[in-house]
Amino acid sequence: MTRRLSLFGATGSVGQSTLDLVRRDGAAWQVGVLTANSDVAELARLAREFQPELAVIADESRYDELKAALADTNIGVAAGAKALTEAATYPADLVLAAIVGTAGLAPTMAALEAGRDVALANKESLVSAGELMIAAARKSGATILPVDSEHNAIFQCLSGGRIDQVRRIILTASGGPFRTMRAEDMARVTPAEAVAHPNWSMGAKISVDSATMMNKGLELIEAHHLFPVGLDRIEILVHPQSVIHSLVEFVDCSTLAQLGSPDMRIPIASALAWPQRMATPCAPLDLASIARLDFEAPDEARFPATALCRAAIAEGGARPAQLNAANEVAVAAFLAGRLSFPAIVDTVARVLDADAPAAPASLQDIFSVDAASRAAAQRLVDQYEHA
Ligand SMILES: NC(=O)c1ccc[n+]([C@@H]2O[C@H](COP(=O)([O-])OP(=O)(O)OC[C@H]3O[C@@H](n4cnc5c(N)ncnc54)[C@H](OP(=O)(O)O)[C@@H]3O)[C@@H](O)[C@H]2O)c1
Repeated sequence: MTRRLSLFGATGSVGQSTLDLVRRDGAAWQVGVLTANSDVAELARLAREFQPELAVIADESRYDELKAALADTNIGVAAGAKALTEAATYPADLVLAAIVGTAGLAPTMAALEAGRDVALANKESLVSAGELMIAAARKSGATILPVDSEHNAIFQCLSGGRIDQVRRIILTASGGPFRTMRAEDMARVTPAEAVAHPNWSMGAKISVDSATMMNKGLELIEAHHLFPVGLDRIEILVHPQSVIHSLVEFVDCSTLAQLGSPDMRIPIASALAWPQRMATPCAPLDLASIARLDFEAPDEARFPATALCRAAIAEGGARPAQLNAANEVAVAAFLAGRLSFPAIVDTVARVLDADAPAAPASLQDIFSVDAASRAAAQRLVDQYEHA
C-alpha cells in the first residue's frame, strides 16, 4: 500500500537521509509536500525527482526562482511562512518534521492539530512548546514518532514494558568532539572544529549543539515531554562510541537498550515504517570489531549546558522556549565567527538570568517569548563582540 509523506526540511541532513530511504522503496511512498528555506536549486531538483503535489520555499523572496525552476512541471509552488503552515495540513499519512530550529514549530503544530501523525526530528519545537504540542496531539489523536536517535531508541525500548513500569531512562551522549578537551582550551575552538562530529554527519546547528552538550540538554527536555516518567528519572550517560542510542530500566531492574551504527537512516526508517519494520542499506553492527563500549558520567563543570536545560524544564513555563531561542542566536553567532565557543552557553545562561516570562498559554505566547529572548541574546552577542 502506498503511503503519503510530507517532508519539511527536505534539503537538510535529515531530509536527505529520509529521501534516500524513500528513493530505495519508491513503490511504498507518494511524496505530497517537500519544503526548504532558501535552497531553491536543491528543492527544485528533489521536486523533479519525487514529483510532490507541492514544493514550498520558506523564504518568500525566492518564490519567482522556484516557480521558474519548476515551470515545465505540474508541481504546485508556494512560498512564505503561511504557505509552510498550510502545507502541513495537506493530506498525509506521515509528516516528517526536519526543519531546524523554532522555524519548524508552526508547521509541526499545524500538522498535529490537523491530526497528522508526525515523525519528529525538529527537537527545538518540542523544547519550546512541548506542553502545547503534546496537548494538540492528544486532542487530535495524532501520534508523535521520535526520529532523534536517542528518543527513537527509548520509544523502541518501551515496547518491552509500560511507561509506568519505567524506573529510569538513560539518554546516551557521544560527548562531542571536545569531550576530553581542557576548559581553558575551548576559547580557541573554531566553527570548523565544532561541526566535525566524531560519529555523526549532521547539519551545522545540531553539530555545534553536540559540541557544547546543549544538544543533550535539549534532548533531556524532549524526553521529558515524550516520556513522562519524571525529570529525576531521566539521566545522561556519556558513551563515546554512539552504539547504544539510549536505555530504559524497568522496575524489575531489566534494562533494555537499542543499538545500531550511528546512521540517522536507522531511526528514520523506524519512524517511517512504524509499527512495521523496513529494510535499510545501513551497515549492520559488528560488535566484535567494535570490541569495547565505554561509558562515563557527564562533566557539567566543563559542559554546563545540560544543567541549564535541567533547571529550565524543572522551572517550566516559558523557560525552555527562552533557552532554546537564546541558544539558536548564540550558535548562529558562533558559526558566523562573532562569538567564542564558551560564550555560546554563557549567552544562554545570561538570558536565563532575567525574570521568567509568564507561562505561555498559546503558540502566540511562545513566539513572543522567542522574539524577546532572541533580542536579549543578540544584545549580548553585540556586547561580546565589542568587548
Ligand atoms: N542531522 C541529524 O543527524 C539530526 C539528528 C537528530 C535530530 N536532528 C534534528 O533535526 C532537525 C534538522 O536537522 P538537520 O541536521 O537536518 O538540519 P539541516 O541540515 O541544517 O537542515 C535544515 C532544514 O531546514 C530548512 N530550514 C532552515 N531554516 C528554515 C526556516 N527558517 N524555515 C523553513 N525551513 C528552514 C533547511 O532549508 P535550506 O536547505 O533551504 O536552508 C533544511 O531543509 C533539527 O531540529 C535537528 O536538531 C538532526
